[in-house]
Amino acid sequence: MATTTVINSLSARVEQQEPREVFYQDVIRGLSATDKYLDSKYFYDAEGDHLFQQIMHCPEYYPTNCEMEILREQSAKISQTIRTYTPHFDVVELGAGDATKSIHLLQQLQKTNKAVTYYPVDISGNVINQLEKTLPGKLPSLQLHGLNGEYFEMLHQANILSAKSKVVLCMGGNIGNFTPPEAKKFCRQLRRHLQPGDLLLIGFDLKKHPQIILNAYNDAAGITRDFNLNLLRRINNELGADFDLTKFEHYPTYDPGTGACKSYLVSLEDQRVNIGTQSFDFATHEPVYMEISQKYSLAETETLAMHSGFKPVANFFDTKKWFVDCLWLCS
Ligand code: AVJ
Repeated sequence: MATTTVINSLSARVEQQEPREVFYQDVIRGLSATDKYLDSKYFYDAEGDHLFQQIMHCPEYYPTNCEMEILREQSAKISQTIRTYTPHFDVVELGAGDATKSIHLLQQLQKTNKAVTYYPVDISGNVINQLEKTLPGKLPSLQLHGLNGEYFEMLHQANILSAKSKVVLCMGGNIGNFTPPEAKKFCRQLRRHLQPGDLLLIGFDLKKHPQIILNAYNDAAGITRDFNLNLLRRINNELGADFDLTKFEHYPTYDPGTGACKSYLVSLEDQRVNIGTQSFDFATHEPVYMEISQKYSLAETETLAMHSGFKPVANFFDTKKWFVDCLWLCS
């Protein structure tokens, strides 16, 4: 039987702010800065989720297909490699989504490890409910326990629920939404929630021809543009702002030196935007920094592993070598 754990009891003790209040504070902070910015974690409201689904179907957006190929074609090999390091384990997936990629790996892992329990973690309760409805139909014998909440709180929860070693999946290249220093901080925090012998399978989008990368964030159909503009619409809807979406232009950049792929929204005129009682002035051509999608060299992923307490043990590439799922061991 599938069960979901929601750590709402925490809110009784810890003083927690309303999500809307936190969203408001973050937006005000970002737009008050000398170099204006908004946080890409707020892209994913219902409309944002829908637009991201569409991005994944754009011909220019390669990362999803590349990682899908890795999981589809190499899950047996990944499973074998995992088994040589840790024979008995449970699986925790951070940001499980619809599990269309991990399902291939879970299938293989179950063949040799029948007692495996899968703990999908997601910040969206919807995602977890959906998984608990659909996954048993696809993998009937899989033990499933959804965890709805923040990554590290839920990882802690999984460690309470399961005494076995952990194989943590962190796929989709979500780590790309961190700057390199933030990514290091994230990996170190992840390592602190794990034990020696635990494993991490983590996806990175690799450096490649700059034009291929830029095109992936500048699709011809304009879905990525709408995805960025949607955050302004969300601020209008949820925080009562009056952004005119026609007065901002999507401007993606890629720096092949640093591997930073950054998106901006550029103001097309001098304008004032009101958010509740606050107002913000945008000069003509002033940028609002929206998102980073950091690209890595293989050497950079290895440095990141070693600087955060992991040992890289295997790399799984797609045939084009555009994406990598790295297997790291907790040393
Ligand atoms: C969900 C973070 C992997 O950075 O490629 C896609 C988000 N942004 N197009 C990425 C995204 C614009 C995506 N990740």
